[in-house]
Amino acid sequence: RKKPVRVAVTGAAGQIGYALLFRIASGEMLGKDQPVILQLLEVPADGPQKALKGVMMELDDCAFPLLAGMQAHSDPAAAFRDADYALLVGSRPRGPGMERAELLAVNGAIFIAQGRALDAVASRDVKVLVVGNPANTNAYIAMKSAPGLPRKNFTAMLRLDHNRAVSQIAAKTGKAVADIEKLVVWGNHSPTMYADYRFATVHGESVARMIDDQEWNANVFLPTVGKRGAAIIEARGLSSAASAANAAIDHMRDWALGSNGKWVTMGVPSDGQYGIPGDTLFGFPVTCENGTYKIVEGLEIDAFSQERIRITLAELQGEQDGVKHLL
Ligand code: NAI
Repeated sequence: RKKPVRVAVTGAAGQIGYALLFRIASGEMLGKDQPVILQLLEVPADGPQKALKGVMMELDDCAFPLLAGMQAHSDPAAAFRDADYALLVGSRPRGPGMERAELLAVNGAIFIAQGRALDAVASRDVKVLVVGNPANTNAYIAMKSAPGLPRKNFTAMLRLDHNRAVSQIAAKTGKAVADIEKLVVWGNHSPTMYADYRFATVHGESVARMIDDQEWNANVFLPTVGKRGAAIIEARGLSSAASAANAAIDHMRDWALGSNGKWVTMGVPSDGQYGIPGDTLFGFPVTCENGTYKIVEGLEIDAFSQERIRITLAELQGEQDGVKHLL
């Protein structure tokens, strides 16, 4: 029997938390032979702490064989102690009328504190996934606040955008989602992201050639993927939660257990690939093996793609410049 690993989850009483924790505890994230200890973080207020207790009662009631322990915390330095995995879901998303500077300042405070806590108490190999928006910039803040941890341990979630793009391509081509390979979403987790199927294949056949419709790419596909989050809020009255949790599971599972040669999209710090300045937390195509990811290099970037990448990079640099004074 394997030794349990410690999985910290923040925002644990929120909607994504409710769709996420049960799947982690059932073994969908780290494997059906890997026991887990959940270290759950919520804000100290009575309401969220009480709600968290309720979620933990339900986790108990599932009698998950792999759930080896469970803790509720309000202090990141306790929640992240010896954590092998940290899923940073809780944040302050932009509310109605909230200024950008205010949003960045509030999240700056959260992710500086959480980055420092990870630096101080987490496993040196901790794998960090930031889900809470603005995800790329929050991951950047945490990474910069944890100088004692390798930069490569910090990632942001673009997998939901990736999965959304795969699903749209499957619908357009009539092919099975499982057969679509080599898709990537470049850049920021925001409507500026660039979902790119130029390299995508189905059983080795080019998806771009199958679709052969640049009009559809620019005017239907990209806006559909880019505005999918808003479409779900409009339809459901709440932001995507089950699909976001699913993407978090996919991201961590592939990172930890390998992607079997498949490309997946992860937001990771650049080492200068594709002209993206070093440290920028950017959506790249990666493959995962033995618990590490590798950016797929050497892809050709045409003029259309270059322009899309420039736009999403400019937005991201604006965000990262906006928090520099806090770091
Ligand atoms: P929610 O509002 O239902 O839950 C968030 C929870 O986080 C709340 O319970 C809150 O008390 C907690 N929280 C806030 N600050 C915290 C802190 N400093 N430490 C610990 N807990 C804290 O929100 P939901 O729907 O679960 O979404 C969570 C975040 O995920 C939002 O920022 C949302 O914008 C983002 N998101 C990101 C996606 C992505 O693809 N990267 C997709 C969908 C949502």
